[in-house]
This record gives sequence, C-alpha cells and structure tokens, in this order.
Amino acid sequence: MGLGYVGLPLAIEFARSGFNVTGIDPDKRKIKAIFDSQSYISDINSEDIKTIVSQGYLSATTDFSALEDIDIIFICVPTPFSKCKEPDVSYIIDASNTIVKHMKKRQMIILESTTYPGTTEEVVLPILESGGKKCGTDFHLVFSPERVDPGNRTFTIKNTPKVIGGTDETSTFLAKELYSQVISSHLVVTVSSTRIAEMTKLLENIFRSVNIALINELTFLADRMGIDIWEVITAASSKPFGFMPFYPGPGVGGHCIPVDPYYLSWKAREYDFYSKFIELAAEINLSMPRYVVSKIADALNESGKSIKGAKILAMGVAFKKNINDARNSPALKVIEELYKKEAVVSYNDPHIKSVGNGSELFCVTSGMGTIHSESITAAKLRQYDCVVILVDHDAFNIPFIVKNSKLVVDTKNVTSGIKPAKGARIVKI
Ligand SMILES: NC(=O)c1ccc[n+]([C@@H]2O[C@H](COP(=O)([O-])OP(=O)(O)OC[C@H]3O[C@@H](n4cnc5c(N)ncnc54)[C@H](O)[C@@H]3O)[C@@H](O)[C@H]2O)c1
Repeated sequence: MGLGYVGLPLAIEFARSGFNVTGIDPDKRKIKAIFDSQSYISDINSEDIKTIVSQGYLSATTDFSALEDIDIIFICVPTPFSKCKEPDVSYIIDASNTIVKHMKKRQMIILESTTYPGTTEEVVLPILESGGKKCGTDFHLVFSPERVDPGNRTFTIKNTPKVIGGTDETSTFLAKELYSQVISSHLVVTVSSTRIAEMTKLLENIFRSVNIALINELTFLADRMGIDIWEVITAASSKPFGFMPFYPGPGVGGHCIPVDPYYLSWKAREYDFYSKFIELAAEINLSMPRYVVSKIADALNESGKSIKGAKILAMGVAFKKNINDARNSPALKVIEELYKKEAVVSYNDPHIKSVGNGSELFCVTSGMGTIHSESITAAKLRQYDCVVILVDHDAFNIPFIVKNSKLVVDTKNVTSGIKPAKGARIVKI
C-alpha cells in the first residue's frame, strides 16, 4: 500500500524475487505510470518495471478490494507533519481502516512508514482488531522501518540490513523468513518489539539531524573566524576512529531528516520529557537557507549590487544529489527567500523539470508559482549576477559553470581546487 519512494522499490524487489506483487495506491497517475512502464523515481529503471509487469510479477491498482487476495501487506504511506510540526499519522490510520474492511485470516501486515514508538501497537493494532480478528492468531503484525537512501548506488534494499520487530515471536519469525527471500538472512536484524524497531529508525535519523546541525553551527563560527570549515572536515576525517564526517549545506530536506525527529519529540511530551537536542538541531538546520541568502547578499554587496533586481541562477532544487525529489528541499527555501527579496531567480536541475503549482508529476509546490528548469550555456551563465550551487548533482559541469560565471556561491564545496575566471569570485559557505 503506497507506491512512492519506499513502496515502489520494495514492490519491485519482491516481484524480482518471484513474488506476485500488487501495488495499491489511490494516485491514478502512479498506477498508469506503472502500466506504461514510466518510472517516476530516479533510482528505478523504466525497463525494470516493463520486464516485471510483462512477466506478470507486478500489477497495480487503485482498487482496495484487491487486498482480499493478498497474503502479506506492506504499509508504505506518508507520515508527514502538520503546520505546527505535529505527527500526522492519518495516512496510517486510513490504510489500517481499509485493511480491516478487506481482511482475511492469516494475513501478515507490515508497517514500513517511519513513525513514533507505539504507533504499531497503539494505533494500527486496535483498528485491525476492530473487525473481530485477533492479532497473533488470526493475523500477524510487524514494524520494519524502511532504510532506502534515494540516489545511493552502493546501498540498496538488497544489501541494506533490515530491522524487524513483531507484535509477537511468531510474527517476527515469519517476517524474518519473508525478508530473507529478498535480502540475505544475515542482513535481517530482529528486535524484541515493534517499539524497539520504531525507535531504531528515529535514532538513525535524529543522529543525522543532530550531527548535520553541529557542523552547520561550526560553519557559522568558522566563517566568522576566517577558517575554511571544509578543509577542517577533510583533515579531521584522516582520523581512522572516533570521527565521522558530516558536511554543511543549505539545510536538510526530504521526507525523513527534517520530519522524523519531530515524531519523537512530540511523543516524548507524553512522558513529560523535552528533547533539547532534537529541537536545537531543527532550529539550526532550519536557519541554513537564510544563512545562504545572507552569504549571497554579502557577496553581491561586494560587487556593489543588491539582491533586489539581481539575476540569480540556483543550481539544483532536489533535496539531495542525483535524485528527482524536491520535497522539503532547502534549495526551494533559498529560492523562495531570494524571490521574496525581489531577486530575479531561475534554476537548473537536470532531474526536475519544473517546480511549483501545476509542475511536473510528483514535484512539490514551492509557493511562488511554477518555474521551469533553465538550460545553461556559457553566454547565459555570463548574464547572471550570481550562480548559487545548492545541490551537488554529478551531472553538473562545475569547471564549466565556474569558468563562465562572475560570482559563484558554493554551498557544497564542489568548486574545491577550481580557480575562478579572471575578475570572477567563488564564495563558499
Ligand atoms: N523517501 C524516503 O527516502 C524514505 C526513506 C525511509 C523511510 N521513508 C518513510 O516511508 C514512508 C513513505 O514515504 P515515501 O517517501 O515513499 O512517500 P511517498 O509520498 O513517495 O509515497 C506514499 C504513497 O502512498 C500513497 N498513499 C497514501 N494513502 C494511501 C493509502 N491509504 N493506501 C495506499 N496508498 C496510499 C500515496 O498516494 C503515495 O503514492 C514515510 O513514512 C517515510 O517517512 C521514506
């Protein structure tokens, strides 16, 4: 259930292993895309969809009655937050309500959506039992967090360890057998409860959020002290133990790092507990787009220009490199801030053709109408007052961009070792 960034790769992996997989999603465009063999996720090859659909291993539908014929149901629905950053588990509730209507005996239900500890047993289980069937005897229930890392070519579903926590030992055992058909059994990590599995995923994402925030804060300090933070990180990374590099950037984006930590800080309040690290990390990471804009303003100022009226090209709108996902992208926040200050902003992103209202399928709304990815040529680059590199896509020809730009603001250290053209400048965050 849910054929998005998590559900589609999972469906494909199980189909490839010989399971008969049905993808169910209310979004008709995704169902059509699957039957048309049109991948909408950069990590998934359209040819792969074509092969498994034509071999009959994968089908897709918006009709939830298909659940009646299914033995194992994966819930891969969104878990966003509200405007006030409170968890929104309504998609999980809707999916559970739908399952109970079509439930048959001996089904196994696996929740893969990231959520706060307690969701599986406090939210999903009571709904599933409301139809009269008992968990453990009539059906099995498991939480197994998805760890897919979009754009990562080294670690995929097949070679990334999978954590599994069932509502009872039998559920955990069955889920281990199941996942072992797709990944090696030594990569399946069983834990003693659904809550441990739920908390494990949050720990992983909070770990990233806090460490990114630490390096972002040190970036502010290094800037004031006139120290190149990137060189410091490279030098510290030579330590073979006890150090793991994290890098500054325009902020955190996507469906996970900016969202998931709030799921735990919200749940913590039920226990009269206030997680200071989670809130502090969010505050620092959220301040990064404005910091980038202030660096652009300072850099333009040195050239005797103001942001207002400046022609600025943003390189990249995806929330990270080599993907076509712009959800919660900090690059879009930088663009919006520049737009509010009346800069004339354009962007280039080889993975995302347009952003904003009415934009390309599956892109987010940036709040400033629809803008389209600009092509870049040497002549066009020379016309911009500033080119700001917000994403380190492999497809960007950085030497070419630097060679033809008057001013480059680099938030990713991709210009390292490249000299600006005569009279031009590179400014790093
Ligand atoms: N994107 C990632 O990299 C990633 C990584 C790990 C975990 N997660 C987690 O996985 C979950 C899903 O994320 P995603 O990125 O795949 O989201 P997504 O928005 O890409 O996909 C979710 C899909 O669920 C569908 N859907 C909504 N309600 C439904 C219902 N009742 N029944 C069936 N389908 C329904 C939506 O139409 C959508 O296609 C979230 O909890 C997320 O935090 C995401």
